[in-house]
Amino acid sequence: MADKSAPPRSSWSLRRKIILGVLVAIIVIGLALGLGLGLTIGRKGDDDDDSGSETTPTGAPLPTPTGTLPWTPKVKDTWQIILLNRIELDQNATAVSPDVSIYDIDLFNTPKTTIDTLHRLGKKVICYFSGGSYEPNRPDSDQFKEEDMGKDLEGWPGERWLRLGSENVRRIMKGRVEEASRKGCDGVDPDNVDGYQNENGLNLTADDSISFMSYLSSLTTPLNLSLGLKNAGDIIRQVLPIVHFSVNEECVKESECERFHAFINAGKPVFHIEYPDGAGSDLKLSMINHYCDDSGDAKGSEDFSTVLKKMDLDGWVQYCDRSIAITETINTKSER
Ligand SMILES: *[C@@H]1O[C@H](CO)[C@@H](O)[C@H](O)[C@H]1NC(C)=O
Ligand SMILES: *[C@@H]1O[C@H](CO)[C@@H](O)[C@H](O)[C@H]1NC(C)=O
Ligand SMILES: *[C@@H]1O[C@H](CO)[C@@H](O)[C@H](O)[C@H]1NC(C)=O
Repeated sequence: MADKSAPPRSSWSLRRKIILGVLVAIIVIGLALGLGLGLTIGRKGDDDDDSGSETTPTGAPLPTPTGTLPWTPKVKDTWQIILLNRIELDQNATAVSPDVSIYDIDLFNTPKTTIDTLHRLGKKVICYFSGGSYEPNRPDSDQFKEEDMGKDLEGWPGERWLRLGSENVRRIMKGRVEEASRKGCDGVDPDNVDGYQNENGLNLTADDSISFMSYLSSLTTPLNLSLGLKNAGDIIRQVLPIVHFSVNEECVKESECERFHAFINAGKPVFHIEYPDGAGSDLKLSMINHYCDDSGDAKGSEDFSTVLKKMDLDGWVQYCDRSIAITETINTKSER
């Protein structure tokens, strides 16, 4: 997924299975509690199959990190996300389109000068990297070990789930967070932290993801970086105290925006992406309303920061007020 040139992977084919799994887990937990067994967080070594069907975490929320807070985005902040190619922005630019508060851009493809220019133009910058998957062609890709890699991500050949508890994986991610700090990013958007919801080949559990987010928070907090949770609806309750925003894909398509509304209730924004058919040209009003109306499939999405995007996450974006913008980008493939 080095350049996001194929559609985002779909974990949704497992959706039904997961819902079923959650229901089973609720019943099992209910029975266990009834029998006075008590389940605790951090229990390792469950012999689950790797479909993620019995990994609903049961522990308490993580403690809020102490110390001074980094910059944190606010509910309803406006944004743009571009992961295909990089923004073309002259150092002397006097404006950037769209004129939104926050840009979410690729950590590796974006030079520091672009981030500096965005800052000069009054924008905050969230830097995207994959936290839970191996991608070929990243500058640090050769540091990953075969033993830490699981199955390919569905729809992303060559990209593989990572063992989130591995010391080597964590060391590499520490390097990525430090790179974000060096480049002057205001926050980070680590992707693919929901391996437990997918056929990952590593027996990853939701508790592994909670532990990994906790580790990332221990890196970002001292570096004054804001931290986001990408998707991973099952672990919101535990992770909410240590993250500052949500980046959600397709909660309307999946009719699950209400889960993510927990962020809004906690005063934290949900940066919400949908990929409507026909994105890339002016969308029909009925289509926009479907994704923006806070009702029907979009129930629970009130106060989300919604962008309508093409699946390749290029410079095109449409907002709920129907405005369209196309951010100028440079094809990074042609530079290699
Ligand atoms: C930016 O402006 C400075 C001073 O006006 C000029 O020297 C420089 O060449 C400009 N840079 C670009 C990339 O246009
Ligand atoms: C933390 O980062 C924000 C911008 O993201 C900046 O305004 C603030 O001064 C930084 N604080 C420290 C202590 O560096
Ligand atoms: C996952 O768990 C199964 C069942 O316990 C085990 O046979 C398998 O070796 C485990 N796989 C990994 C990669 O740990």
